[in-house]
Amino acid sequence: MKKNITIAIDGFSSTGKSTIAKELAKKLAYLYVDTGAMYRAVTLYAMQNGFFKDNSFLENLFLKELDKIELEFIFNPDLGFSQMYLNGKNVEREIRGLDVSKLVSKIATISEVRKKLVAQQKEYGKSKGVVMDGRDIGTVVFPNAELKLFMTASPEKRAQRRYKELLDRGDDITYDEILKNVQHRDFIDSNRKDSPLRKADDAIEFDNSNLGLEDQFERIYNLALDKIKEINS
Ligand code: DC
Repeated sequence: MKKNITIAIDGFSSTGKSTIAKELAKKLAYLYVDTGAMYRAVTLYAMQNGFFKDNSFLENLFLKELDKIELEFIFNPDLGFSQMYLNGKNVEREIRGLDVSKLVSKIATISEVRKKLVAQQKEYGKSKGVVMDGRDIGTVVFPNAELKLFMTASPEKRAQRRYKELLDRGDDITYDEILKNVQHRDFIDSNRKDSPLRKADDAIEFDNSNLGLEDQFERIYNLALDKIKEINS
């Protein structure tokens, strides 16, 4: 039987990680897991249940409820990819907004949250045949992944992409707000104690500041095919 591989895609926010990961999973008929969506859904739960209060976060109370948070990806056949469900409800739209983006890095610093989500992510990938994107996939979740990619682009370019996405869906935001959020998240994600964002030593780096994602996708797809050929030879 043909052996499958694990593909880990890490990098900064809005570097096109999920676009590439989704497309790669589709072409290879692999499972796609957007781990950022999981951190975003936990953040939404904390927001909806009053754990962010008067500019502070009630961490101890929140941690007591961690077991009540159930996350699930359900495949949407019309769209051709999975969407995030929080305790049985589709939260795909809510988790992508700037409100969640502003608070998610805080939630992602909490070790108990990371432990819960990493366990679920490892479970998704235990039979291989998975493309997973995030910040710590090649370093913590799947340190033995056969193919590791690390995506970067300038903060301005990433903010432009994110700004356009949110404008297209009708959100009332400014470019400056988005740029500030991108820079703030870069800082927290790269400097947190538990599993900071960093390139795994054996990851291949792609900077797409000045390159279309289509060109990059072809290179990445060929890398995946080469790896699959290699482990099956
Ligand atoms: O990929 P994204 O922008 O949707 O991720 C949202 C946040 O979640 C990001 O700012 C950092 C955090 N995150 C993380 O800490 N570890 C992951 N594996 C994925 C995301």
